[in-house]
Amino acid sequence: MKGPVEPFKIKMVEHVGMPDEKRRIAAIREAGYNTFLLKSEDVFIDLLTDSGTSAMSDYQWSGMLLGDEAYAGAKNFYHLEKSVQDVLGYKYLVPTHQGRGAEHLMYSHLVKPGQIVPRNMYFTTSKLHVELPGGKMVDTIIDEAHDPENEYPFKGNVDFKKLQAYIDNFGLDKIAFVNVEMNCNMSGGQPVSMQNLRELRKICNEYQLKIIFDATRSSENAYFIREREKGYESTPIIDILREMMSYSDGCIYSAKKDCLVNIGGFLATNDNDIFEATRNMVVVYEGLHTYGGMAGRDMEAVARGLREGAQYEYLKYRINQVRYLGDLLKDEGVPIVKPIGGHGVFINALKFLPHLEREQWPAQTLSAAIYEDSAVRSMERGAVSKGRDKETGENIFPALELVRLTIPRRVYTNSHMEYTAESVIRLFEKRETIRGLKMVYEPEYLRFFQARFEKL
Ligand code: F0G
Repeated sequence: MKGPVEPFKIKMVEHVGMPDEKRRIAAIREAGYNTFLLKSEDVFIDLLTDSGTSAMSDYQWSGMLLGDEAYAGAKNFYHLEKSVQDVLGYKYLVPTHQGRGAEHLMYSHLVKPGQIVPRNMYFTTSKLHVELPGGKMVDTIIDEAHDPENEYPFKGNVDFKKLQAYIDNFGLDKIAFVNVEMNCNMSGGQPVSMQNLRELRKICNEYQLKIIFDATRSSENAYFIREREKGYESTPIIDILREMMSYSDGCIYSAKKDCLVNIGGFLATNDNDIFEATRNMVVVYEGLHTYGGMAGRDMEAVARGLREGAQYEYLKYRINQVRYLGDLLKDEGVPIVKPIGGHGVFINALKFLPHLEREQWPAQTLSAAIYEDSAVRSMERGAVSKGRDKETGENIFPALELVRLTIPRRVYTNSHMEYTAESVIRLFEKRETIRGLKMVYEPEYLRFFQARFEKL
């Protein structure tokens, strides 16, 4: 088996050190067995996240020098607006410093206390920004998504029966809007099909419900549609994207993923009310409505990256590099989420470490163990990330207890994938020797970022 050939060449490199075993053991203990608390200089291969970690192209870097740093009306804003109109098809743009800035503006405008937001599957910051104005995000994804072994090709799809049940049980007034995440992160980077979006639009039209996308990984979703959905085999990615977005009233977008930049985000919409309200609030929380917390140069990089990240040849390499790592693990029997997702390989920690109780945090444990073995940094995506039930205060133990090996875009070579796979396979062979963790510190919000653990 071979990895996909990279459609670029390397013009600049960054040295990375390899901490020895003694340092790795000390570093992860000092970090409270939480990979978020490791220093980057202690990491050899950083698969914590695909967010803000991309390598920009020479075209993007050269655009950075053309940053117009005027407080108001920078020309890079108008370039970004044009890119969003061309690639995604939305009329209005409100820039923000990153995705959660856009979530804050969009969701605080749309959610009233006591309302619910049906969404295929939660994402951490999205859920919180629905809860802060008094709402509740409810799971509306198809059952297949909760089963790591199920090979269904569109495990990001919305389950219309679940949506109908929310409508029937809560009433339309209690539904703020319907939220759909592209290439659903927490279910393993799994796409939503065009057919699902099209049908959802019909249902929501009937009930006059707004649809807001989390379009953060929409280009990768579009690639999967082209690969897997009949009728799209040779459709240009941008045409697929524009059709997808046409089924929504607006979106929030963290540019730190598919736009191949280190910082940035926005919301975009065709809805006058949403635009007016959020364009007004952006000046309170982010910055003027023509920069929203980004420098002019950042907006230029996003404007160029949005187009670059939607190129078919690039996406083909990208998705196949993730698949290469996944296949290396799958072939050795390591339990991973199937099908292999768009932005990372997700290890099923419940199957990897079946001897651990849920309160021993299997995914957190495995993530720390991988670091200790090889200085590869991954991320827990399970019960620590899910947090506690807002009403009862109890821990929630989701069906998916995963470790995410998230692949930054255009940063690592296929041999880095091989090194990573060897480490995970080595641990898999001695998995019974891995001991669980005890949580010893828990912050109130988004606990996974700062929680601390001790080895049992
Ligand atoms: N929505 C999704 C689907 C995301 O994956 C993220 C971030 C956000 C919104 C928030 O965007 O970070 O720019 O404020 N995901 C990162 C991750 C942090 O590692 O998955 P942000």
